[in-house]
Amino acid sequence: MTAGTAAPDVDALRSLAAEIALEAGELARRRRAEGVSIAATKSTLADIVTEADREVEQLIRDRLDAERPGDGFLGEESGGDPGTTGVTWVVDPIDGTVNYAGGFPTYCVSIAAVAGGDDPDTWSALAGVVHAPVLGELFTAARGHGARLGAVPLQVSTENPAGALLGTGFGYDPATHDGDLATVRRVLPLVRDLRRMGAAALDLAYVAAGRLDGYFERGLKPWDFAAGALLVEEAGGRFERLVEPGSARRMCVAGSAELVADLVERIRAVP
Ligand code: IPD
Repeated sequence: MTAGTAAPDVDALRSLAAEIALEAGELARRRRAEGVSIAATKSTLADIVTEADREVEQLIRDRLDAERPGDGFLGEESGGDPGTTGVTWVVDPIDGTVNYAGGFPTYCVSIAAVAGGDDPDTWSALAGVVHAPVLGELFTAARGHGARLGAVPLQVSTENPAGALLGTGFGYDPATHDGDLATVRRVLPLVRDLRRMGAAALDLAYVAAGRLDGYFERGLKPWDFAAGALLVEEAGGRFERLVEPGSARRMCVAGSAELVADLVERIRAVP
């Protein structure tokens, strides 16, 4: 917080994020029903942005500007603005864009409020919401106040006697796929089964809800995990971004503390 600024009311931030995520999700769902149009490709041909990603992010940004002028913003599609209040909103308007474009229901709006700037290594997440409009689910969390699905409190799973049900994902750059597959091979002995849902924020919300025991993925961007990481932590779990010499694509790992420790050991094992 800047000097003299009162500590933010994290429940109010959660409520505002939830209200805006519901509006944004409705816009995304409506635009999808009208037909999707690919606006551009980003890092690789597989990394797409639709017109709806841009329109939904603009809606979120406009609503936040109106409700909380002066807050910072970091969005997947429109970039950053540091703001003046010490609170920054980190937004993925449509996480799971490839699912969205392909007509899969597993996409979501992800909105987080963080304190301390837009660097995930130093920020402290205050509130986060993940809303999957087609699934009709709203996951919310506020720092120190727990995580919920609707009104139901969430708790990460701690028992997985048949092995862990894990989510994962692969980056859009084909050059990274061999490394990702080598990681999967090292992790498989811990696993009951693997899911690749295609929306990192939703994967993390599912870990918070105990649907997935854990999750790992290399190379996520801040807007992919800002809200989901807080959901996991507030549901009693752990979220880590590993620092690995020689790799700029940081590995994110989530789950119970015990599972995360086991996953990290496997991920770091020399092949
Ligand atoms: C992507 C999804 C995907 C993950 C990618 C992300 P986007 O986000 O979360 O599951 O594997 O790493 O970039 O591009 O759909 O917002």
